Amino acid sequence: MKIEVTDNTAYETEDIITAKDLVKSYRLGDGSDLTVLDHMNLSLPKGKLIMIMGRSGSGKTTLINVLSSLDTFNSGSVSLMGHEYSQMSDRDKELLRRYQMGFVFQSVALIPAMTACENIDFGLRTAGVKEGRKERIAEVLESVGLAERGNHYPVELSGGERQRIAIARAMAHRPRVIFADEPTGALDTESGFHIADLFLELAKKEQITIVMTTHDVRISEMADEVIRL
Ligand SMILES: Nc1ncnc2c1ncn2[C@@H]1O[C@H](COP(=O)(O)OP(=O)(O)OP(=O)(O)O)[C@@H](O)[C@H]1O
Ligand SMILES: [Mg+2]
Repeated sequence: MKIEVTDNTAYETEDIITAKDLVKSYRLGDGSDLTVLDHMNLSLPKGKLIMIMGRSGSGKTTLINVLSSLDTFNSGSVSLMGHEYSQMSDRDKELLRRYQMGFVFQSVALIPAMTACENIDFGLRTAGVKEGRKERIAEVLESVGLAERGNHYPVELSGGERQRIAIARAMAHRPRVIFADEPTGALDTESGFHIADLFLELAKKEQITIVMTTHDVRISEMADEVIRL
């Protein structure tokens, strides 16, 4: 089954993302190729926390960029809810990202001139959500345990709190999947565990597939599934 990129109705299939025989290599300055993903096969199910684990340079960011359609690949296939990236225009991939995906990065990209609530609202508007934004903002702030911090500007939040606001923003428009590249990388161990815990809870509660990278073995032990590179 294949649905419109902007459609938000239930998607029945259990696997949200599949990759078959995926190859990604980079062409280097000297003309040689560096193969980072070598004939990879994956199926990532609905409502699970999946962690991509590996040492520095093993290809975690590359994999997350390819699975989220931010980067191209050399051969094989990647699809999200039946949408095969190699068959899609850049515009359709952009829409797919905007409506069906959420993103969280290591260095949080909250807009400094906006409060936590306004940052989340900005995400909602970008995803075309017109109604019920105020209620949804309150709901996601509650989900990340920051109901009392909505009116704080990013500089008025701790690093861990900023990361939780970024997660609230990434999930507010009810994406099918959240991609998070080293979301715990800039946090102390304790806060890192809290973020992973929060992701586990969100994956279950909102049936979102969460794909995150980490190089921390203890954090990877919390995942439903681990992809080792
Ligand atoms: N644009 C590029 N051109 C050429 N080589 C690249 C490019 N981006 C990454 N690489 C190489 O690909 C490999 C994988 O890089 P990647 O950024 O995916 O690793 P990573 O697992 O995310 O590492 P880290 O834990 O340090 O973030 C590395 O060896 C890197 O040098
Ligand atoms: Mg990386």
